Amino acid sequence: MQPKVYVTRRIPESGINLLQQSCDVEIWDSDDVVPRDVFLEAVADKDGVLCLLTDKVDAETLDVAKNAKIFANMAVGFDNIDVDECTKRGVMASNTPGVLTDTTADFAFTLLMAAARRIREGHEFVHAGKWETWGPLLLMGQDIHHATLGLIGLGRIGTEMARRGQGFSMRVIYNDVVRREDLEQELGLEYADFDTVLKESDFVSLHVPYMPATHHLISTEQLALMKESAILINTARGAIVDPQALYTALKSGEIWAAGLDVTEPEPIPMDDPLLTLDNCLIAPHIASASFNTRNDMSELAANNILAALSGKRPPTILNPEVLEDS
Ligand code: DGY
Repeated sequence: MQPKVYVTRRIPESGINLLQQSCDVEIWDSDDVVPRDVFLEAVADKDGVLCLLTDKVDAETLDVAKNAKIFANMAVGFDNIDVDECTKRGVMASNTPGVLTDTTADFAFTLLMAAARRIREGHEFVHAGKWETWGPLLLMGQDIHHATLGLIGLGRIGTEMARRGQGFSMRVIYNDVVRREDLEQELGLEYADFDTVLKESDFVSLHVPYMPATHHLISTEQLALMKESAILINTARGAIVDPQALYTALKSGEIWAAGLDVTEPEPIPMDDPLLTLDNCLIAPHIASASFNTRNDMSELAANNILAALSGKRPPTILNPEVLEDS
């Protein structure tokens, strides 16, 4: 009998095709999040689960998923998975690092440029029929070239963001819990403490994982340190930024603009005050959404499952200690 795999959403076919070669695959055949009760019922008899950042893999899930050997997240972030709980029960967890790095950094830089140069306002201005003449004062924005880019987090995506900044002759400074002198040398980056990055940057871009220590890492006090001309970019996780504090800072002109691919909560409620602001550009969590990258993510998640179900080490396992113990 073939192992049973559950896929919690429609995903690019390449990953499904891989799984179907040797597994009995059940898919929540929808673009909507699988309801919790359906999810719990479906995982009960599965050997592997390909899940998304919208699916909570917690003690309740693991209590039900008695046969599951692996929960393979199709995302690099895995704050939806209680990895410690998985490890305790000998269940593997995996994510999809690497394959989305460049695409996500491209998008973070896209948001940076679009917010700085007021692309959304320009587009709306044209479509509203307001473009009557060339205007010397029309929709002026912030320069990107030779500005200071401050990175909070210098992991894979942060590092690629640094490279993009250098392509625009930016000064790049960063803060991370781990200092990377090798990258400072290689890319000409400057390390600075957290507050200094906030104070000196024209653009602050967040590239840290979401965890208790990064919950509302950017709130009133931190926004107050930033320049009035500064732009905040968040492609990491919404809850790293305190949304009320951000609204106040944007509304009062304490900072100049924000470009967000992630919000707290997601999706952003239609009555969220951030949606009333012209200086807040918001995308629906699509930083990794290129055709190639989403294919690669679905294949990597599938390969993690196939490895786990055939007794091999999943290529991007998050808790390898599970294998050592077995
Ligand atoms: C991730 O991978 O964590 C993104 O948020 C979705 O690509």
